[in-house]
Amino acid sequence: MMEELEALSKLIGGTPLLRLRRIAPEGAEIYLKLEYTNPGGSHKDRIAYYMIRDAVEKGLLRRGDPVIEVSSGNTATAIAWIASRLGLRAMLILEPEVSEVREMALRLLGAETVRIESEEEQFRRAGEMAEEMGGVFLNQFENEANIKAHYETTGPEILEQMNRDIDAFVMGIGTGGTIIGVGRRLKEEIGSVRIIGVVPRGSALLHEEARHEDRIGGLSKVIKPRFYIENRHIVDQVIEVSQAMAIETVRRLAAMEGLLVGPSTGAAVHAAIEVAEELGEGCRLVTIAADSLFRYPQLLRM
Ligand SMILES: Cc1ncc(COP(=O)(O)O)c(C=O)c1O
Repeated sequence: MMEELEALSKLIGGTPLLRLRRIAPEGAEIYLKLEYTNPGGSHKDRIAYYMIRDAVEKGLLRRGDPVIEVSSGNTATAIAWIASRLGLRAMLILEPEVSEVREMALRLLGAETVRIESEEEQFRRAGEMAEEMGGVFLNQFENEANIKAHYETTGPEILEQMNRDIDAFVMGIGTGGTIIGVGRRLKEEIGSVRIIGVVPRGSALLHEEARHEDRIGGLSKVIKPRFYIENRHIVDQVIEVSQAMAIETVRRLAAMEGLLVGPSTGAAVHAAIEVAEELGEGCRLVTIAADSLFRYPQLLRM
């Protein structure tokens, strides 16, 4: 399997960095790293690859073995296509609300899917399945390979593409893997860089309990992710963005920049504009387009 893993590593990452020309405040430079150009359509290809490679290297996975994950989103897709190429059996635990189209896409890739009601039950069942079937529960919320993927690939790519001249990095927090991995790498190399997280308005990350109905796909609303809690010192500030503002920014990115991005990117760009206004003339910011609007067919009607 090592040869196939090597071949896959050449397909993932190395994504382009685009300067936003019209939506950025005058005099500010905002760059967007287009992670949706990864083969699976998101930044999660990087971590799915790292988590699977890590398990293979530890001798925990052989061809035909199950790789199990709790995910209804980008991580699920990333695991499904990578597992297919490696001859592994992707078993994905979905939340009950996931759209039929998403589930069909996962099944087309050969993944087995099951919908389970409560979050607690989803994680319990995943652990059980791994034990019963001799597979691995990847668990992106606990797996250090998540942070490592961004520390070793996304972070260095950004440093190189920006010629090591960056004032701030802005990123939505889901598992926290991207912001902590990239943030740690950038801070090691640029002492003054500001690392800014983004969550939906009313997220439990900033309040005792989640408030408001605002939800933004992929970003933390109820769960307080361990990677963020344990590495809080890396994040200088967390900005809340309403669902409506995230969607409005998606619309503006389409009209003004010719980009069709998902709602978490709308939220991140909205926050980046806020930070750029604060930092003023000549500032250089980077944020990430995690996925594309085509992942959210229901939003294409706006
Ligand atoms: C669309 C989208 N944006 C942002 C994120 C946040 O990334 P991370 O989990 O690395 O914090 C995710 C995570 O699932 C996502 O799916």
